[in-house]
Amino acid sequence: MSDLFDFDQPPPLYAVMGNPVAHSRSPEIHQLFAQQASIKIDYQRLQVDVGGFAQAVSNFQASGGQGLNVTVPFKVEAWELTDTCSERAELARAVNTLWFEANAINGDNTDGVGIVRDINNNLQRPINHTRLLVLGAGGAVRGVLGELLRCQPSQVVVANRTVDKAVELADTFQNHSNAEILGCGFGELEEMHFDIIINGTAASLTGEVPPIPKIHFGDGALAYDMVYSTKPTAFMRWATGTGIPHVSDGLGMLVEQAAESFYIWHGYRPSTEPVIRALRSGTATEDGL
Ligand code: ATR
Repeated sequence: MSDLFDFDQPPPLYAVMGNPVAHSRSPEIHQLFAQQASIKIDYQRLQVDVGGFAQAVSNFQASGGQGLNVTVPFKVEAWELTDTCSERAELARAVNTLWFEANAINGDNTDGVGIVRDINNNLQRPINHTRLLVLGAGGAVRGVLGELLRCQPSQVVVANRTVDKAVELADTFQNHSNAEILGCGFGELEEMHFDIIINGTAASLTGEVPPIPKIHFGDGALAYDMVYSTKPTAFMRWATGTGIPHVSDGLGMLVEQAAESFYIWHGYRPSTEPVIRALRSGTATEDGL
């Protein structure tokens, strides 16, 4: 670990960049992880103008920054900036974690690992052998689809308002999975059966629910919204109303993806359960607990 407590040195600098970024909980999460690891870090929240991302990264690096989390809308630009990046980030064509070496910008995408660990471990709904429905075909879905497929669901359907995007995504990812992947519109879902439904559309952000027709769910089914909110999202309310027994927002995914970033940067794997609990109960602050 490079960040052992040293009173003579300022703590190493990390940040999350996005636009907007004021809502980001990454500073709280990383400070709680740092407490667990007994290290001191400076983790900032940096709002970056659209069009100014590359310059902002360069400035951050020049000021001694060691690593960055990247959120909407800069994940694709972050991927384009990297000199080396992981296979999963290459597949996602998006990066949410950057770290710097003398002459190289390295990138990874930890979103997929984040959602898989939350569903498999925290929510105890194993993805393996399930019939999986993913709503949306934008950047958020592209970022997690590869890792979801690695769990070997028995069937995967990607449904999107713009059907062509779902078909294209299914075609791209078909090469990376043994499961059959179908890309389609929402209407084609009628009377189909699923065990897990994941909302990766941006609809929740505007309080909307994608137009999902009548579909059937197995016992113990899970509805998962990739966004998080203090109140149930419109999708979560729809899922509860439909009778899906397990419903979750994406707070656990957020913490899990952050834990993977923390591991990349510091070589320490934090325990996520107390951090999820602290965020849910509102006791976390940016200075830690
Ligand atoms: P993100 O990075 O959040 O995925 P994006 O790449 O712009 O953002 O993708 C947004 C996704 O949410 C898309 O799948 C979009 O559907 P379209 O491809 O048809 O645009 C979906 N989406 C946004 N608002 C929606 C709504 N009200 N109902 C259904 N899908 C919606």
